[in-house]
Order: sequence, then structure tokens, then C-alpha cells
Amino acid sequence: MKLDVTYHKHDVVVVGAGIAGLYAALKTSAEVDTAVISKVYPTRSHSGAAQGGCAASLGNVMEDHWEWHLYDTVRGSDFLGDQDAQELLVRDAVPAMYEMEHLGVPFDRTEDGKIAQRPFGGHFGNFGKSPMSRSCFAADRTGHAQLHCLYEQCLKHQVRFYNEFFGLSLIMEDGVCRGIVAWDMQRGGLHVFHAKAVHLATGGHARCWKITSTAMANTGDGLGLIMHQQLPLEDMEFVQFHPTGLWKHGILVSEAARGEGGYLLNDKGERFMETYAKAKMELAPRDVVSRAAQTEINDGRGIGGQDYLHIDLRHLGREKIMTRLPQVRELALKFMNRDMITDPIPIQPTAHYSMGGMPTNLDTQVLRDAGKDAVPGLYASGECACVSVHGANRLGTNSTLECAVFGRRGGIKMLDYVRAHAGHEDLPGDAADAAREQVEHLLSTAGSNGVRPVELRERLQLSMGENAGVFRSAEGLARQVQICQELRQQYRNVTIEDGGTYANSELTEAIELGNMLDYAYVIAHCALQRTECRGAHWRTDHPGRNDKEWHKHTMSWLEGDQIRLDYKPVVITRFQPEERKY
Ligand code: FUM
Repeated sequence: MKLDVTYHKHDVVVVGAGIAGLYAALKTSAEVDTAVISKVYPTRSHSGAAQGGCAASLGNVMEDHWEWHLYDTVRGSDFLGDQDAQELLVRDAVPAMYEMEHLGVPFDRTEDGKIAQRPFGGHFGNFGKSPMSRSCFAADRTGHAQLHCLYEQCLKHQVRFYNEFFGLSLIMEDGVCRGIVAWDMQRGGLHVFHAKAVHLATGGHARCWKITSTAMANTGDGLGLIMHQQLPLEDMEFVQFHPTGLWKHGILVSEAARGEGGYLLNDKGERFMETYAKAKMELAPRDVVSRAAQTEINDGRGIGGQDYLHIDLRHLGREKIMTRLPQVRELALKFMNRDMITDPIPIQPTAHYSMGGMPTNLDTQVLRDAGKDAVPGLYASGECACVSVHGANRLGTNSTLECAVFGRRGGIKMLDYVRAHAGHEDLPGDAADAAREQVEHLLSTAGSNGVRPVELRERLQLSMGENAGVFRSAEGLARQVQICQELRQQYRNVTIEDGGTYANSELTEAIELGNMLDYAYVIAHCALQRTECRGAHWRTDHPGRNDKEWHKHTMSWLEGDQIRLDYKPVVITRFQPEERKY
């Protein structure tokens, strides 16, 4: 079978339609021809699952300053975030939030009509000394509200959408990005998008764990695009576990539930956070709370000795739950058959957020090495990127913020780039060859005897939970590296049942699996190398943070079956590393 290829030309092509991608597209569409390609329908992007809020030091509820937000973000990152990027994040948070308000995001309101703000873990006042309400919110559907607003704005500004298109390979010539090749998941067929600038906003990659709060689509396909061009990834060992996923499902119970006053309880009915973070309790940063929860479970204090704990919101009362946490209540009702107005809800830590990703500079240009060398024409922002604002651990509600600030900034910077490049450079003649080979090969396996994608994916997800979870050791990580190597070997014989090109979901799953196996291998390898505890990366065999040897970013290149590593220094501008106590 020879697949058809369709050609398109746009000034800018954004890949991914979450908050970061849509904000970038909105900015460029003001002046140049902009397209968005997205694996899912835009309003189904995972940004829509962001519940609790978007942080900004507006000071609408209590006094706040960007310096306090910066301090919390730096400490929250366990001093691995780059402080120049972190400063940009917290300073730009304020104009970005007001711009979103003016674009039409329906934030909740204070009594005097300002954007409402609520407390969230790790956010404090006066350099960590007092409570803080910093997270701007729209009930517990903040990401949903932002996503829909940006999508409507993009439609209004004539952004061209290619929905249910799967990005398969970047088009690179002389080290410059000239476009991307994508697969039309609905109708079949390859599409070459010729562009002056490509912006990757492909989201996170926590789907390689079984228990995860992330969408089915979060399979790190953008990382595949980068790795397969021999470009590096940064800090891949750092993946955040959110302490409150619905038991067995992993679906998010927003930290807003604790921000509004919810308690975490063990089998004895104790608020166990007293043992782990006496001062900040349930509002300590996530890495701290997840480890506490996992320790309670591991030590047999889960409810009934099982692998879950309770979040108790009953004391908040019906009215507060119905106005501030309606979606979380509905999710617990639908998935657990429990009403949080009358019952505590079973929760467990869940793989939630990827701190690592594609290294970028402050202008969202993708970097090709541990230095400052950027790939012309290639940009990235949001969870798939690593400008390094979150370092080793992200604070709640700094994620939608990162998407807004760097998506917006990326759009502005791409406009400068496109203005300076009058015409499209020629496409290489073989632009679609790699993607064609990949799809034609998978389709050609239809009906033959081999391993099915779902079998490999299941083994990957379960083993990542066992060996690369909240607590890690050399033994478990070495085992995981080996499992990934074996699975990657078996993937060479992966077969699908359906050889059709129309809406072939198993084909999609097979391509996703290839990406998952590659980046999971990188995660396990990088985690094995980092022999210290920092943020979300906790090595039981190497207690304590080791600034002397490990205060640096990991850069990784997947080269065939090998992974090459390099390291680069952390940017420090204001705050030297100090002990983290909550
Ligand atoms: O708990 C939450 O609502 C999640 C927020 C976040 O990850 O920033």
C-alpha cells in the first residue's frame, strides 16, 4: 500500500491544542497564517482537566508580591528550577492573568468583583512565613474555562484547526525546522505541513504509569518527535505524583480540596501530615504530601490495611463543596460511588505531571545541546517543554500558569521570527519518508502473529509503578531499565489487527506505544543515574539532597539502543539552595 500525501503551507504550525498551544496560536494569528494540529478535538485537550487554579500574585484576597511567589517556586522546585525562567514566570503571571480575564475566562469573583484566589500547596506569604491565597480559579474547572475561552478566541482569529491529526516526524533541513508530517487519524493519509515556525505544545507524558491523573492522550508524542531527531530531553527523571488520585483510577481530586480545608486521614483517623509537615500540613508541596501518603500506605496505615487513604471534606459543608468543588464531587460520585458531602473519599498517589521535557530557552526556542544553541524554527512550551520553571517538583497551579505565560510568550517570539523570514525555505524531497515508512510498516503487520500493543503497554505501565514510583532504588530502577530494553526489543514485532487507514485506533495506540517505550526508557535510565533525593525524585538508597554532585540538570539523547547523558548548571540569580522544611 502506498499512502497518499497532502501538502499544506502555513506560516506557523502549532502542535497541540491545550492552553499553551492555543495561547501561542492566538498570538501569532494576530498577524500571520496560523494552524493548529491536535491529536484530540481541542476542547478535549488535557488542560481541560486542570482543576484547582492558575497562580498569580494579584493580591486580591491578601497582600502578595511576585518575589514571594518566586521564592515559593524556587523552594518548591527543590532548587533545581532555573531562576531566570522562574522570575519570568511569576512576573508575567500578573499580566497574563488579566489578559485572560479580558479574553473572557469566567473566573470566580471576590465580593468586590475581583478575580477570586484560593490557597494551594507550597504557596505562602512573606517568604514562606504566612498563609497565602494565590491561585485564581473558576470553581474546580479552571483549566476547562481557560481552554474553552482560548479555543473560542482562536476561532475568532481564523486559526486553522486540523483536529485528530497525529504528529509523526519533524521536517528538518540543515538543522532548521521547516515543518511537520502528521497522520490524519479519522480519514487516514499523510499530511505535510510546511511552516516557517513549528511550536510543540504536546502536553505531558505520565501515561506510561498505570495509575495516573492524565488523559489517555498524554503519551509523550512530542518527546518522540524530538528524540527521533537526535535532539535532547532535559530532567526526565522528575515526574510528579499528586497525593490525591481517586483510588484505583488515579483521577484527580484537586489540591483545591485541601486548599479549601480538606484533611488527609489514615486508617486510625489521624491527620497524618502532622508527622511529616507539622507547620504546613496538607498544604505542604506535593512531593512532600505524596511521600507522606505513600509512607502511610507502605507502613500498613492505609484504610483497612489497603493501598488507599481518605480525604475528608465533610466539615466543609454542602454549600462550599457545591460551589467550590462541584466537579471533584461529581467525579467521586461517578467513579467511587461516594458523596464527599457525607463520606470520606478513598485516594492514593497518582502520576500527575512531567517536570522534564524538551529543553528550551526563555523565548521557548528548543535547544540542541547543554549550551545555548537553539534549533531555528522550532519552539516548545507547556508541559512537554522544560524551560525549567519547575525543577524537581512543581507547585500546584504553576502548571496552567506556565502554559499561559510561555505559550503566550512563545507566540510573540515566533511572530518576530516569522517577520524576519519572508518566504518558506524549500522542503526536502524526502520530507514524508520517515512517517510513511512508520505507518506503512505498522499497517503491513495487520493480521500477522506478533505481540499486540496493549500487552506491551500494560507491562510498561505496571512496571513503571513498581520500579519508578514515589520511592525509587537502584535495584528497582535497574530492573526498569532492563524491562524497557526488553519491551523496546519486543516492539519491533508489534502487530495490529486492523490494516485499514480509516479511524484505526490500534494504529494510533501502536505509534503512541513506540513513543512511550522510548521516553520511559530515558526516565528510568536518568533516574538510575541520579543518586540523590530531590523534589519528586526520591532514592531510598541515597538519602538526602546532594548539591555538591547533583545540583545540575540532566540532558539525555536517545541514540538507538543507547542513552547518552550530559549535564548543565542550574541558573541561580537570587536564592541559594537551602534546607527545605514545611
Ligand atoms: O490539584 C489540582 O487541582 C492540580 C493542579 C495542578 O496540578 O496545578
